[in-house]
Amino acid sequence: MNVRDSEVITGLLMRQDYQAVTEEVEADIIIYNTCSVRQHAEDKVWSELGRFRERKSPSRTPNPESRKPIIGLVGCMAQNYKDEIFKRAPQVDFVVGPSDIHKIPGIIEKVTKPQGHRVTSRGLFESKIWETDGNIRLDDIYHTGFYKDKNHAYTVISEGCSNFCSYCVVPYVRGELKNRNYKDIIKEIEGAVDKGITNITLLGQNVCAYQYGDVNLVKLLKLVNPVKGLKEFSFVTSHPKDTVVDLFRAMRDLEKIKKYLHLPVQSGSNRILKDMNRGYTREEYLKIIDKVRSLIPRISITTDIIVGFPGEREEDFVDTLSLMEEVRFASAYMFKYSSRPGTLAERMLDQIPEEIKLKRLHKVIDLQRKMATAGAAKR
Ligand code: 5AD
Ligand code: SF4
Repeated sequence: MNVRDSEVITGLLMRQDYQAVTEEVEADIIIYNTCSVRQHAEDKVWSELGRFRERKSPSRTPNPESRKPIIGLVGCMAQNYKDEIFKRAPQVDFVVGPSDIHKIPGIIEKVTKPQGHRVTSRGLFESKIWETDGNIRLDDIYHTGFYKDKNHAYTVISEGCSNFCSYCVVPYVRGELKNRNYKDIIKEIEGAVDKGITNITLLGQNVCAYQYGDVNLVKLLKLVNPVKGLKEFSFVTSHPKDTVVDLFRAMRDLEKIKKYLHLPVQSGSNRILKDMNRGYTREEYLKIIDKVRSLIPRISITTDIIVGFPGEREEDFVDTLSLMEEVRFASAYMFKYSSRPGTLAERMLDQIPEEIKLKRLHKVIDLQRKMATAGAAKR
């Protein structure tokens, strides 16, 4: 989602005649598009920003040769911290949340125009702008025509998420689920294909919950499949509780759909799944896998796994290992649980010590690696 958002921001700026540069030292404006899903992602941004603290320090003797780029922080961290960002990182000039990205060109104008600045007590020109209260994205932002890749494009079909998994910050920073008009989605895909793109990935935090009027995900896939010039398409991410047999039938029958399903399981333990508020049991998940494999035998299935969720006992973790062995995922994204401010799980008792989380993470990574190697050998 952030890869696509960065592309959208680049497209919006290029429309205003800004140019992208490849070297940071050449840049007049640097925009960090940030993620808050785990603490580690945020830490990386704080540390990156640290590099500019000195360069933009007001106490430094002004040197016309040293460039002082304008720094913007956008995306989920912007939403999470709002103007607090300026306190922790005064070198940041503007902060823009995920639903306000269309305002970025205007904000840059304001930040760069001298009349927009004010003289502070420290006697320097300073202007800080933050925009984090938008709640809907304008369709127009998706039509700048800028795609980084020549053959493949991401197309956002929905934004935000209303599932409120107890560990997840997404509903708080990206807001509740908002579906894009399918007519506009198709228009964007047709535009991308006109530019020579042949491969599309439909994007959403939970694409299975897509609904616009009477068009659900299955209907949307049926509208995308006939787009002339499109060769292949896929969709991420699916939520097990919202998958339906019709979706798998559509995947089987629509010739352009990649036979690939990313279906995050998160845990193999029913007790943990319940505390995570995932809305399905281990048995239900396994049933879905059986169903999809019976309809599409050669489908590639991948997943996300979290280890060390609060209260995860050794036997819960063993349940995750056994589920992985049972399903044999083609690949898996595996994470240590990371406590996120404002989520339900943050307040749960029995947080797991870091060293246990790390040990469990290594175990799942090892197991997945072994199975992937064995799977590859079998093929
Ligand atoms: N800690 C660890 N992993 C998380 N994810 C989401 N929130 C957290 C968290 N607080 C993982 C989930 C999700 C993926 C995108 O990121 O596995 O599916
Ligand atoms: Fe987060 Fe759950 Fe929504 Fe995925 S489905 S974005 S994990 S709240």
